Amino acid sequence: MRLIFVGDVVGSLGRDMVHEYLPKIKKIYKPQVTILNGENAASGRGITEKIYKGFLQDGVDVVTMGNHTWDNREIFEFIDDAKKMIRPANYPEGMVPGEGMTFVKVNTQELAVINLHGRVFMNDVDDPFRKVDELIEIAKERTDHIFVDFHAETTSEKQAMGWYLDGRVSAMVGTHTHVQTNDARILPEGTAYLTDAGMTGPYDAVLGMKKEQVLRKFLTQMPTRFEVPKEGRQMLSACYIEIDDQTGKAKKIEPIMINEDRPFGLDR
Ligand SMILES: [Fe+2]
Repeated sequence: MRLIFVGDVVGSLGRDMVHEYLPKIKKIYKPQVTILNGENAASGRGITEKIYKGFLQDGVDVVTMGNHTWDNREIFEFIDDAKKMIRPANYPEGMVPGEGMTFVKVNTQELAVINLHGRVFMNDVDDPFRKVDELIEIAKERTDHIFVDFHAETTSEKQAMGWYLDGRVSAMVGTHTHVQTNDARILPEGTAYLTDAGMTGPYDAVLGMKKEQVLRKFLTQMPTRFEVPKEGRQMLSACYIEIDDQTGKAKKIEPIMINEDRPFGLDR
């Protein structure tokens, strides 16, 4: 089974990159499932129904979310119908709309996609480690092919989760920190791992926000509103994962990075 995962899509520049490059990426990697983190897609904060549907039209199969899930209030109007969008599974049990896991059909098989939220330097949520145990048990009744997007702040929590999941899921990729890490690997028991897939959006910015505003904050410590640039150079961060059809173990993980310093196609 072949997957593409696109890291945190930020604002219109990020959405444009998905629209322009996802078809080109698909031509090369021929993924059977495309997953994308869309929690920053609406001007950096949350997602709208129009944007969600736009991703589906661009060929995305599952949209994952994160700490900004509820930032755009429109989500409450469409989350129950958005069957291809999941929010972190470890939100308080039974009290929150939406689902934290979904299944995608791939020929005769299925891929379970799980979204989790970290707890270190983030909002207080339920334990992602114990929650993922529950979900793996449910998923395994249907499939050995499981993908986890762990939306977390610290590299340590993400690495720890990677080891915790090794051999039990096909792949765990981190999101949220917006900088792609250079540590893609297959862990000893067969789980593809990447601490962070990186960001898709403004290239000349600080984690997707206007650099002037972020600098002002650092220099003055004054309250500062952060906005996502609407024009300028763009980038896309993603990764490609190949899973053994028989065992559900990962065979390959390859990071993908597209920007003006690394133009698409030159390294292939
Ligand atoms: Fe985030």
